[in-house]
Amino acid sequence: MNKIPFDKHEQFVIRHQNPFNGGAPLNLLTQNHVTPTNLFFVRNHGDVPQVDIDSYRLNIQNKNKNISFTLDEIKNNFARVEVSATLQCAGNRRQELMAIKEIPHELPWNVEAISHAVWAGIKLKDVLATIGVEKEANNLHVQFQGLDETERLGKRFNFGGSIPFEKANHDEVILAYEMNGKTLSPVHGFPLRVVVPGFIGARSVKWLNQIIISDEPSQNYFQRIAYRLFASNINSDNVKWNDGLMLSEMNVTSVICSPENNQRLTSGFVTVCGYAATGGNRHIARVEISTDDGNTCMQAELDKTNPFAWTLWKVNLNLEKGKHQLIVRAVDSSANMQPKDVEQVWNFKGYMNNAWHRVNVIVE
Ligand code: MTE
Repeated sequence: MNKIPFDKHEQFVIRHQNPFNGGAPLNLLTQNHVTPTNLFFVRNHGDVPQVDIDSYRLNIQNKNKNISFTLDEIKNNFARVEVSATLQCAGNRRQELMAIKEIPHELPWNVEAISHAVWAGIKLKDVLATIGVEKEANNLHVQFQGLDETERLGKRFNFGGSIPFEKANHDEVILAYEMNGKTLSPVHGFPLRVVVPGFIGARSVKWLNQIIISDEPSQNYFQRIAYRLFASNINSDNVKWNDGLMLSEMNVTSVICSPENNQRLTSGFVTVCGYAATGGNRHIARVEISTDDGNTCMQAELDKTNPFAWTLWKVNLNLEKGKHQLIVRAVDSSANMQPKDVEQVWNFKGYMNNAWHRVNVIVE
């Protein structure tokens, strides 16, 4: 059996050992609104870098102007803020897409590439103000680069990505040095990471050492090529990378964590539970459970409905003997709804699957 590294939980589900990728098992994923750090999912494209804190600098560049900060300067020169935010990988729920048609070279995430933490650090907009980026700079992009290296298309480079300046200027976008009340751990980006609530996880760049203000999005592979959404007829042979939608805000989704697929249950009342999440600064408005392919439904009880945070939900269902398919679907505060079938959202990179989530159970 593979050893579980980085102080992760002994039941952590490893999706890839090297680089390390994994998440919480379904029975533990939604036990707490704030995910314990040892159960928080990990998405790495390269090895976790060893960072020497004495020589570490955050370098910021705007046109010809450069500033750099040590970690102490970041902590001492700027106000500390806390943000309670969910991170979700755009590849979450890829397994359901893979069941329809193969998606080679991508991680087979089930529903565990999502977690919630309380992050502490400084507002990105406070840092941007020190290098003189004005509020009206709304056509600009804020590019990030991490210290980890990876290889794609025969080239070695550092992970990176960018967000529009308009988002970077929001209060919730922070450079975090703490996660759940503790110093950020190496696997989650020590000493400093970006946290971009409401956006796909890829923009929350870990091991951050460079910020560049630019009039274009990052040219990094993970912004320019990966994390783009294509129509279902596009594949690696006919793709024109520039035609894909550069992913930013997450879409509305919901998932059943318990019972699990093909679980055997005893007839009578069963607690069905899971999570729902959305993107931007929207929140979850309603979660519905159906046992008849969506024709009728019950509303679930929701724990919290805040922007940037997942909503944990539960419902008690009275199930008779027989085979049932449980379905969950959510509606967010902009009335966005989930598509019915996975076929509707299939794409060759396997991103943004937010179809109704279906779980088959046998009731005895
Ligand atoms: N930052 C760096 N430097 N390298 C990475 O591989 N992965 C991104 C993002 N930031 C990544 C990164 C992706 S795709 C996701 S979903 C989140 O980190 C996951 O953050 P986590 O590992 O803390 O859960």
